[in-house]
Amino acid sequence: MSHVMNTYLRQPVAFVRGEGVWLWDEDGRKYLDALAGIAVNTLGYAHPRFQKALLERIQTGVIHTSNLWRIPAQEAAADRVAGITGLDEVFFCNSGLEATEASIKVARKYGHDRGVAEPAIIVMEKAFHGRSLATLSATGSRKVQAGFEPLVQGFVRVPLNDLDAVRQVAENNRNVVAVLVEPIQGEGGINVSRLEYLRGLKEICERKEWLFISDEVQCGLGRTGKWFVYQHAGIEPDVVALAKGLASGVPVGACVVGGRARGVFKPGNHGSTFGGNPLAMTAVVTTIDTVKEENLLANASRVGGMIQESLRSQLGNAVTEVRGMGLMIGAEMARPCGELVKGALDAGLVINVTAESVIRLLPPLVMNEAEGREVVERLAPLVKAFADKRAAA
Ligand SMILES: Cc1ncc(COP(=O)(O)O)c(C=O)c1O
Repeated sequence: MSHVMNTYLRQPVAFVRGEGVWLWDEDGRKYLDALAGIAVNTLGYAHPRFQKALLERIQTGVIHTSNLWRIPAQEAAADRVAGITGLDEVFFCNSGLEATEASIKVARKYGHDRGVAEPAIIVMEKAFHGRSLATLSATGSRKVQAGFEPLVQGFVRVPLNDLDAVRQVAENNRNVVAVLVEPIQGEGGINVSRLEYLRGLKEICERKEWLFISDEVQCGLGRTGKWFVYQHAGIEPDVVALAKGLASGVPVGACVVGGRARGVFKPGNHGSTFGGNPLAMTAVVTTIDTVKEENLLANASRVGGMIQESLRSQLGNAVTEVRGMGLMIGAEMARPCGELVKGALDAGLVINVTAESVIRLLPPLVMNEAEGREVVERLAPLVKAFADKRAAA
């Protein structure tokens, strides 16, 4: 019996080796990875530059010091993150929930600094922000919340892509100090915000002096063809939450602030023992530099666009919709299709199903066109067979 706590329904496969977008299991079977550890392995596996940088860091003998001291690698990583986000101050943590939790704290502190004793944050239906008490309370899924009540107060929920709903809250609730949006909802089923909607939200935030918080933990870091989804809309948030792809597999999160949120946190307001340590920061710097040097934003846009088009043309009516941006892709089926994950593994392909009926693809950003075509070639027959089987039943 395994002593690992039973919090995941796991597939009985263990990947023990990887190279590029390919994985091998314990029996030496080879798989094409279209999931990247759920949007984490930006540079795929065994990227030579990434391996070299981490090995060099380990060889210094200093992989951790403490935030009690200066950490030059953290300063370098913060410069990189400020550069790509366009924001000013970076707090490093270790996961996505910590990044969103810190963002929620920034919003509350911003409210208190302005004399709002019970600050509230507008959040979206079907969004996912993490599994700490505050972030699961902000999450728009009863399944995530059930059993953990009482929830943290101070969240007002509205549907995504509905500006009128936000305007109504703006008129009626004087405690609101921020909007928290996941511009492409990942866990919720690859639900894409309209760019007009994001611009409209930003306008309301400007008018009401609210913080605009973008949770780009899953959709950020180049996957959509730009570093961040808000850049497609031509707007700048006050707070951005990052994690997943930020360090290509080393656990790193970041809460990045600018605009109205700049300077809200002062010494003593927040902290993390591990956050921003030299090992993790080497991974951040190398990930960002490599994405730039290998033009992986353009690659994500090109290969992602090609995968989406091929899925649309090959799957036809087998799916109700193919949607997404760049290498963040969802193909929705008319019925729950979780069993496709196992079918895909049998066909040597790593995918995921989220929101019960949405096939989710989040490949490493290093995937090339031939590998992208191979994803569709392996996936399409399975999806069609599944749809036919259901149609016949
Ligand atoms: C948009 C978003 N925010 C936050 C999180 C939480 O991240 P973590 O699992 O690293 O805590 C996730 C994880 O899936 C996510 O997709």
